[in-house]
Amino acid sequence: MINQKLLIEKAYEAQKFSYAPYSKFNVGAALLCADGTIYTGCNIENAAYTPTNCAERTAFFKAISEGQKDFVAIAIVGHKSGTEVGKGNYCAPCAVCRQVMAEFCDLESFKVIIAKDYDDYLEYTLGELIPLAFTGKDLED
Ligand code: THU
Repeated sequence: MINQKLLIEKAYEAQKFSYAPYSKFNVGAALLCADGTIYTGCNIENAAYTPTNCAERTAFFKAISEGQKDFVAIAIVGHKSGTEVGKGNYCAPCAVCRQVMAEFCDLESFKVIIAKDYDDYLEYTLGELIPLAFTGKDLED
């Protein structure tokens, strides 16, 4: 069972820590693990631009670096700073983050929840967001 509302609340909490002085686009994510643990993340930008890490990957890397392997769902919120909650758009994960998700998550069962308010969200399976994913299976003999 996924408590979407709780996951979205955690994503909004994490968004507060977003470090985005260049884009001024603040993103928060909350990743639910199979054991019930939730890891949060925010985007972390850099003056050199390319070292920037998205909120989703921050959450994944925190979880994986603490031994988590089984993931159920991720909630994502993002909008320009100063935008009121509910006034922005849905923030879909970038292609790099989708690829990272595909490395660790089941395409059919892992859910991606993109919210623009606490109770206004869209829910997709990862497979819907990354059709024909290139994964470790493609590298098998
Ligand atoms: N960003 C994320 O953190 N996640 C997304 O899903 C989309 C983009 C960040 C990266 C960068 O700091 C800012 O949003 C603008 O691209």
